[in-house]
Amino acid sequence: MLHNTNALLIIALVAVLALTACAEAPDSAIATVSPPTPALVAQPAARASGQSLASAQSALPLMIVSKSPSCGCCQLWVEHMQEAGFTVEVVNTDDMGPIKQRVSVPYGKGSCHTAEVDGYFVEGHVPAIDIKRLLTERPKGKGLVVPGMPAGSPGMEMPDGRVQPYVVEFVADDGSTSTFARHGD
Ligand code: CU
Ligand code: CU
Repeated sequence: MLHNTNALLIIALVAVLALTACAEAPDSAIATVSPPTPALVAQPAARASGQSLASAQSALPLMIVSKSPSCGCCQLWVEHMQEAGFTVEVVNTDDMGPIKQRVSVPYGKGSCHTAEVDGYFVEGHVPAIDIKRLLTERPKGKGLVVPGMPAGSPGMEMPDGRVQPYVVEFVADDGSTSTFARHGD
């Protein structure tokens, strides 16, 4: 009888220890489960701790933005990129022509600023969500353009929130363009 009581106590003790281990499982599981890519680890960790997306940002490649030092909408677009998690290096220049030529912005598709990220160029007020999709899908080609400066695009926000419908175009290696995304309609 005494023996049985001891056995029951041991079983109860094991059960308590198991419950304690379970209660701690969610935390340790995140830290120790198979090593996924840094990007996959960084996002849940950042959300769980309520921090900014600082750790997720490091997973995005560096973006270099060439722009005129006096361009206000360019600066706002840079801030849109930073808020989306990109680390941005700004090159201020009043001579944008040679840069657009070097990266092969198609004739008539130009805008105010030109960005370069992970082997692609991004011309004009392209939303961050489309750039992230580009970097995920990695289609063969040169980059994205939003020709001109559509009202309501990132960096061109209107006081009344209006968005003039616009198209983000993908630029293929031969310079031809196709619709990549539509906004505002
Ligand atoms: Cu602009
Ligand atoms: Cu600009």
